[in-house]
Amino acid sequence: MDALIIEGPTQLSGSVEVSGSKNSALPLLFASILFNDKVCYENIPRLWDIETTLKLLEMMGCGTEWDKEGGRVAIIPTVKSKLAPYEQVKKMRAGILALGPLVAKYGEAKVSLPGGCAIGARPVNYHIEALRKLGVTVEVEEGYIHASVVGKLVGAEILFPEVTVTGTENLLYVGVMAEGKTVLQNAACEPEVVALGEFLNSCGAKISGLGTHTITIEGGPLVTPSHPVQIPPDRIEAGTWVSIALATRSAIEITRCDTSQMTSVLAAFRQMGAKIEELNQGTCLKVIPTERYNPLHIETAPYPGFPTDMQAQILTLLCMAEGRSTVVESIFENRFMHVAELQRLGAKIEINGNVATIEGPAKFRGAPIMATDLRASACLVLAGLISKGTTKVSRIYHLDRGYQRLDEKLRRLGAKITRVAE
Ligand code: EPU
Repeated sequence: MDALIIEGPTQLSGSVEVSGSKNSALPLLFASILFNDKVCYENIPRLWDIETTLKLLEMMGCGTEWDKEGGRVAIIPTVKSKLAPYEQVKKMRAGILALGPLVAKYGEAKVSLPGGCAIGARPVNYHIEALRKLGVTVEVEEGYIHASVVGKLVGAEILFPEVTVTGTENLLYVGVMAEGKTVLQNAACEPEVVALGEFLNSCGAKISGLGTHTITIEGGPLVTPSHPVQIPPDRIEAGTWVSIALATRSAIEITRCDTSQMTSVLAAFRQMGAKIEELNQGTCLKVIPTERYNPLHIETAPYPGFPTDMQAQILTLLCMAEGRSTVVESIFENRFMHVAELQRLGAKIEINGNVATIEGPAKFRGAPIMATDLRASACLVLAGLISKGTTKVSRIYHLDRGYQRLDEKLRRLGAKITRVAE
């Protein structure tokens, strides 16, 4: 296992390029199962979660090619086994995205229940209940979801009890292959869902209402895409860079982003007093450092609200604000694991249920700390950059699951950060 050693505090300078979006790449890669011929992808980020996804597809019998430097992946969807085993799904909960395409294309799937993780229980009951409405028989036995279709998939109206991103994605795959009309109410409108829906539409699907909470799907045949599928830039990585720039009070340019997907995040940073310019038709952000930050009240919410995947990063930044801030985590029940680690560095944070109260400004001093999940890892690296002295962040495999070479990118911006084996 690797750890990162950070010498702080650091000021950074220069320009950093945002990689392809993890949460967009994963559903688009699983979509290859729906086709008969090779599907090609570009701008695939170099991440552990991509490694796990390709491994899973290979175990099903698919051919895969990955040019890691060039960011290109090709998948030949020759599925023989409809099994997504626990050994892979436990490494990456998004393995649940195998369920929809396997059921849609082959009428059967055996997919491991993902289980809980560091941020909450994360059940998949909404996926299962929705599939049943479309005519899928689903049994849960010995830790596996056994899904089968006797006869054919028939469109239905589904009301999700809560907005679910991968739940909506699983239903898009199945809805496009079902006979007739499927309506998804309280559907997720995250940009990653829109990207998947638009890709399917480019292959002949008839999906309307993408980007809203009501999605309508008319089932019909799909044609294999003739052009490579482009993975959009990672809005969470871009937001993480803005928080790093603001925390280290560094003038940084962040390129290859899509600021239209970052409205709530940029609004929150600006409310704190940050100066952020959006350039080149919203593909570039220029962060201008500020001396003082205002405290904030933030609540995470489904898109277009403030993303839970940016909660840890803004919470860390709010430790530098002058006064009391509150952060409410409304999506996951246990997503404050980073707080105990930040406290080790000197943060003054109190947790009450799903509310964190932060007293700032705090002075951080380096200490050994441990990453617990992906976004928590990013906030701990950010905290290390502003701490005086040496911070060692252990268990950074979480970071490598979802950020392409964050330490290398930081080094190029001037950070004193080294990777060591533990
Ligand atoms: N939920 C249920 N039952 C379900 C599905 C969801 O109770 O069947 C609950 C969850 O427990 C949670 C809420 O509904 O409280 C929303 O969960 P959602 O299903 O939307 O989460 P997800 O699809 O498992 C995706 C991202 C997460 C991101 C969330 C929320 C991917 C691969 N993962 O997860 O990303 O935090 O949406 O936006 O797209 C990350 O990248 O670090 C990450 C965790």
